[in-house]
Amino acid sequence: MLDKLQEVLKEFENSVSSVKSLPEMAQFKAEYLGKKGKLKALMSGMRDLSVEEKKTFGAKANEVKQAMELALEKRSQQVELEEINAKLEKNWQDITWTDRIKDKGQQSAGLHPLTQVMRDLEDIFLSMGFDILDGPHIENEYYNFEALNVPANHPARDMQDTFWFTDMKHLLRTQTSNIQIRGMEQKDPPFKFVAPGKVFRCESLDASHEAAFHQFEGMMGGKDISVSHMIHFLRTLLREIFKKEIKVRLRPGYFPFVEPGFELDYECLLCGGKGCSVCKQVGWVEALGCGMVHPTVLKAGGIDAKKWNGFAFGLGVDRLVMMRYHIDDVRHLHHGDLRFSEQFRAY
Ligand code: DAH
Repeated sequence: MLDKLQEVLKEFENSVSSVKSLPEMAQFKAEYLGKKGKLKALMSGMRDLSVEEKKTFGAKANEVKQAMELALEKRSQQVELEEINAKLEKNWQDITWTDRIKDKGQQSAGLHPLTQVMRDLEDIFLSMGFDILDGPHIENEYYNFEALNVPANHPARDMQDTFWFTDMKHLLRTQTSNIQIRGMEQKDPPFKFVAPGKVFRCESLDASHEAAFHQFEGMMGGKDISVSHMIHFLRTLLREIFKKEIKVRLRPGYFPFVEPGFELDYECLLCGGKGCSVCKQVGWVEALGCGMVHPTVLKAGGIDAKKWNGFAFGLGVDRLVMMRYHIDDVRHLHHGDLRFSEQFRAY
């Protein structure tokens, strides 16, 4: 019996190094140590041994079992390493070598036009000393409406068709203006920050409306801030995005969180102001809402409205992207059609 045990161990030791993969390893393990394995088979022969022999055999069998387990563990680690190395060898790629990608008939990646414009906007405002803030898509009623001077039952809530959660307290934010309050809670005046992000409205979809779109919010708080400060920053924004001087006009506009409130239009870049289908024949394109921050909103942000004032603006980014790249349907931006995205590949 003891010889048999020794034989099985020898056989095991001779073959363990030829196991080449992890599935093979599992099979091999079962062959020796499994319920129907060779070791169990030998042990079932113990019945016929004397008490003394049983003891010796049992101890030896245990030793053999432990030796096998150790060897299996070692070999498994080797096999795993060999598999990783083989994979690395086979799939190795210099991701910085774009010709190789082209040789293989693969396409290089590029940034989506929305990402490009968002990044440009961030760079423009970073260079003017603004901080960049982030905020939640799932928002509560307070930050999206109430603290922005839109209490429950205020008709202005109907200006934005809202996706409410069933608790009727949480919603998908309808505007990046939720960051106004969150930003003021974090910062003491004077401050300057912008907040890019996705917003959601329960809209019917067409060439200029999507249910998920992008806004870029901005806010500046300080002493004696005026409408001309605001116009300066907005002009700079448009000039930098379009790389030329852009004609703008300011119209009065109603937004509960600013007073006075404005809408800023710029001359349609597709028709040069003559009128076309994109600007609905008026020659001007609505770019953003803006205004001087309402004292109630400053107060909600924990700021003394007698000492400080500020401006805020909220820009529709998708429309800006459409203007910059002459895209005539907002739905192209989100549908993931590669024929569209490929046109914006970096190389
Ligand atoms: N949140 C507004 C909207 O989505 C846009 C807006 C208007 C933002 C005026 C502002 C503002 O910060 O001052 O329609």
